[in-house]
Amino acid sequence: MTIKEVSERTGISIDNLRYYERIGLIPPIPRNKSGIRDYDEIAIHWITFVLKFKKAGASLEAIIEYIKLATSEQDSKEARRAILFEIQEDLHNRIDKLTACLEMIDYKIENFDNLCDPITQKMIEEWKSKKEGNSMKKDLGSVLGLYPTPLVVVGAMVNGKANWLLVGHLGIMGHDHIMVSLSKSHYTNQGIKETKALSVNIVDESWLDKADYVGCVSGNKTDKSNVFRFYIGETGAPMIEEAKLSMECTVTDNYETNGFDNFILEISHTFAEESILNEVGKIDYEKLKPILFEMPNYTYLKTGETIAKCMALGKNIE
Ligand SMILES: Cc1cc2nc3c(=O)[nH]c(=O)nc-3n(C[C@H](O)[C@H](O)[C@H](O)COP(=O)(O)O)c2cc1C
Repeated sequence: MTIKEVSERTGISIDNLRYYERIGLIPPIPRNKSGIRDYDEIAIHWITFVLKFKKAGASLEAIIEYIKLATSEQDSKEARRAILFEIQEDLHNRIDKLTACLEMIDYKIENFDNLCDPITQKMIEEWKSKKEGNSMKKDLGSVLGLYPTPLVVVGAMVNGKANWLLVGHLGIMGHDHIMVSLSKSHYTNQGIKETKALSVNIVDESWLDKADYVGCVSGNKTDKSNVFRFYIGETGAPMIEEAKLSMECTVTDNYETNGFDNFILEISHTFAEESILNEVGKIDYEKLKPILFEMPNYTYLKTGETIAKCMALGKNIE
């Protein structure tokens, strides 16, 4: 095979093929009668082999040494094996480093939206170093601090009877959904899962004692169906008569977390007593005075008076 053909086959330029031979990177190539290089399959094998060595990152010296040993007449097996081991180890090291880089890039891509850019990160670091010197605050760890929360009694039909439980872990999602977080162990969950209908009743002081009671005993052991007077809503959910404000809801989703069903609810109807509405028919929370709940000391709190209209106080701050 001519040098031109070998160049085309291997992708190595003719000049480089000559150069590699001159420096001993490939063994001497057999010549034809006219003294022109005539590459046989063994020569092609060596060229492919050398290319792989180079790609693996082996130094030219190591490859030349290997070729010299391989083409010498003496037994060079052990010396060649040692060179291979060295190249293998170096290759493994580089693969490990590249794998670490890849993992870092994978992580960045997966968490792209949540990661700080380097400038934000730098600001956080600077702030942290300042805080260590200045802050008097005590780090309580990952303690839930999102209190007080409104206190509600959730009602659902379970096995054909109304059942109630007290709930302080709840939230608003967007402008049209709410969420109640119920331990999977509770009796009420069975009914909610079956009927997909429930009521969320805002607790006020006038019936706090009954609300507290349904938070103490479980429908698993005690029939709580007679604790409240109730009416049945359009969805089949039982609604508390004593509650001045009740929402009739249907379950649209359940975002499960460890040990909890977090029911996502759509509100079908909101029932309000006239006595808690203002002159324009809106719910007046100064009249309703919902009870609040806080977990750290396990207490109920009163809601107070209006401080200001929203977006009024901020106007005075530049
Ligand atoms: C103040 C208070 C707040 C509560 N908040 C919740 C809550 O947010 N989520 C929950 O799963 N259980 C909560 N509970 C516990 C349940 O109301 C209670 O275990 C109830 O007896 C369960 O009833 P059931 O098994 O009939 O469903 C609370 C209890 C009290 C006293």
